[in-house]
Amino acid sequence: MSEFAAKYGPWALITGASEGTGAEFARQLAKKGLNLILVARREGPLAALADEIGKASAVKVITATIDLAKKDAATRIVEAAASCEVGLVIANAGADTNGSLFLDRDIAGWEALVAMNVSTTMRMVHHFGQGMRARGRGGMILVGSGSCYGGLNGMGVYCGSKAFVMNLAEGLWAEFRHYGIDVLNLILGRTDTPAHRKILEESGQPVDMTGMASPVDVARIGLEQLPHGPIYNWGQSNDVAGYAPNSPDARRERILMIEKMSSAYAGKK
Ligand SMILES: NC(=O)c1ccc[n+]([C@@H]2O[C@H](COP(=O)([O-])OP(=O)(O)OC[C@H]3O[C@@H](n4cnc5c(N)ncnc54)[C@H](OP(=O)(O)O)[C@@H]3O)[C@@H](O)[C@H]2O)c1
Repeated sequence: MSEFAAKYGPWALITGASEGTGAEFARQLAKKGLNLILVARREGPLAALADEIGKASAVKVITATIDLAKKDAATRIVEAAASCEVGLVIANAGADTNGSLFLDRDIAGWEALVAMNVSTTMRMVHHFGQGMRARGRGGMILVGSGSCYGGLNGMGVYCGSKAFVMNLAEGLWAEFRHYGIDVLNLILGRTDTPAHRKILEESGQPVDMTGMASPVDVARIGLEQLPHGPIYNWGQSNDVAGYAPNSPDARRERILMIEKMSSAYAGKK
């Protein structure tokens, strides 16, 4: 058994596992010998990934089609993982697909985003944290976004939900390190995922992924950084304040500086 599997195995649960960063976490964890519980809404891509991993390794794979924005999501995840000792949780799904300014979208769209990123995430880590604490080992990667550092045009709810994730991760890191559980908020910048390409297409922007992070690198570096929480800011060393301005003037400046790009994501160029 690898050192990694001894610390974080035998099962890893990954949300948003059917493509992009989630699928890459799955492939790389299978190579490390962890069994996998793969969660997303679409059965087809999940089954294809399970098949691919099954052919390439000897690990066990369970797929679970669950909508993380639904009220019963966490309960269904717990049921799907009932027979498994989950030593690693990767809360990966969490992009905003609303692509809209706040008032131009029905409130249900914003509530769904909050349910996925706030309630379901919190319930999952509460449940699986119990087993990890009892065993005295484990890990959690909460995938975040640089948008957690302040509200942005067309992204207020997304930014707020990712700020919750960051603060939750920091709080859990402070508590869980005493139980032998590593917690990391893996804060990403722009990344070349299918979901991101779709958002660009739908908002009428050019699909130019030049210079963006790749899911392969995100998964590799995310797993490497897991013991070094609470935060890893993509592409930055840990002694750099980076995206986190504090004064009201600096925050206002940041919002206005990023406004053009964030408006484009809401289809308002
Ligand atoms: N891509 C970027 O540029 C970027 C930048 C900063 C941060 N991030 C963060 O990185 C993470 C991954 O982002 P991403 O671009 O790959 O998009 P994403 O939509 O968060 O992830 C795509 C994966 O999540 C699943 N998924 C989406 N909504 C779901 C739901 N309601 N219930 C269950 N599964 C769901 C998708 O499969 P199904 O469609 O089958 O459900 C797919 O497997 C997110 O937390 C995002 O906030 C991404």
